[in-house]
Amino acid sequence: MSKLPGNAGVAVLGDKSLEFYRDPVSFCRQRVDKHRGRVFQSRLLNRPTVFVCSVRGMRELLWEKSNMFLKDPTDLMTNMYGDTVVTTNGEEACLLRLSLTSLFTGSCLESSRDYITSVCERCLKDLSLSRQPKCIYSAFKSLGTELVLGLFLNVQAEEQPELFQEITHLCTLHWHGLISAPVNVKVPMWSSGFSTALEARAKLMDIIKDKLENDKQGFVGTLGSLPLPNSSSASQHLLLFISALIPKALASLLTSFTLALSGNEQEETRRRAMADPDYLQRVQLEVQRLWPPFIGGRRIAEQDSSIAGFHVPKGYGAIYISHSVHRDPEVFEQPDNFLPERWSGRNAGQEHLLCSFGSGPRSCIGSKLTEVFLKEVCMYLLKHYDWCLDPPSQDLEYKWLPVSRPANPPTISFTRLDQTRSDGNHTC
Ligand code: HEM
Repeated sequence: MSKLPGNAGVAVLGDKSLEFYRDPVSFCRQRVDKHRGRVFQSRLLNRPTVFVCSVRGMRELLWEKSNMFLKDPTDLMTNMYGDTVVTTNGEEACLLRLSLTSLFTGSCLESSRDYITSVCERCLKDLSLSRQPKCIYSAFKSLGTELVLGLFLNVQAEEQPELFQEITHLCTLHWHGLISAPVNVKVPMWSSGFSTALEARAKLMDIIKDKLENDKQGFVGTLGSLPLPNSSSASQHLLLFISALIPKALASLLTSFTLALSGNEQEETRRRAMADPDYLQRVQLEVQRLWPPFIGGRRIAEQDSSIAGFHVPKGYGAIYISHSVHRDPEVFEQPDNFLPERWSGRNAGQEHLLCSFGSGPRSCIGSKLTEVFLKEVCMYLLKHYDWCLDPPSQDLEYKWLPVSRPANPPTISFTRLDQTRSDGNHTC
């Protein structure tokens, strides 16, 4: 077995976390070029870590060797959300997944459809009304928040605007704690982001527990009746499901979709996607291939192992980088180009080689729900609007953390299709 290219440096001084979190895509690109290979080592979170940027490596990590590379129970996610399926392993994780998956599939998923349709209609019907360009990332994040709070907590913006606003605000405070240093310091006139986040979490937990006790309808009702390992499990998972992370990920994909299909030059693509659901599916695959919302996922080697033929010692971290995996030229020809047709040609039937929603036994349990939601939003946009960048020239350079999106929020003008047709003119 070969030695991993690169080096993991010495403890603390050799740590590359700052460089990685500042720009993970450049970090990986530089090293892939330097080592002429898509699997290498460096030091992340002060742990020697193998970076996996190839499809083959990702498949090994997440599928074939998933019992050797485990979730990290000390991950910051545990600090913020408590013990949830995200950071557990083994039989406990299997049982939790089994229970929770039922909430996101089958009849539960079916019963979400009407609400999804009504939220889309309500949030998207006025996109062109003010004739002002819209900041699409914010608009889609609000849409995502309405979706998760309505579906998972039975709190709808229209029916309970104050409670809705309060929960949204608390989720934002809680989220900012997740990305601030975990130092619980509170002195008069000043409190660290982390301690504010813990206060927000406590308030959110009160609201959630009240819901679980008193609301027997919908998702909360079903979650409350599931067999879960302990009495706080349902509330901790609800906290996770309503976290700001999910609306952000939804907004990331919808922003990338809107940008990829904007302007007169993409009119034909929009019309085709509207008329042909299979083609829309290929467009959406290509959007998530090029702009996966999350940069990837981390594991710890439980024993000595290997990835792509390289020795990985016990205790090493392992991280798959979805952006790089999705641009592996061995699998995706012209990897940087937006080519929806690839999914009916050379890459037909290879959706499982993407990892925007993870892959293997620990893949995302909300991916089916997300798929239904994204289809509904994209179809609504395609059926009702033409759209273009406004102003036409904007800096669309992406940042990749916490979710992928242009660093400068892009603005878009929407024109209703019925209006375009009756006026006979395009504003785009
Ligand atoms: C655009 C939307 C979403 C994206 C891009 C996304 C992405 C992901 C990814 C990449 C993973 C795997 C992480 C890893 O390998 O370490 C994951 C896991 C997970 N996702 Fe999602 N997700 C989305 C929406 C949702 C929704 C709507 C829910 C539920 C409300 C959800 C719940 C989960 C859970 C519980 C896990 C952990 C599964 C486990 O560890 O066994 N996700 N997601």
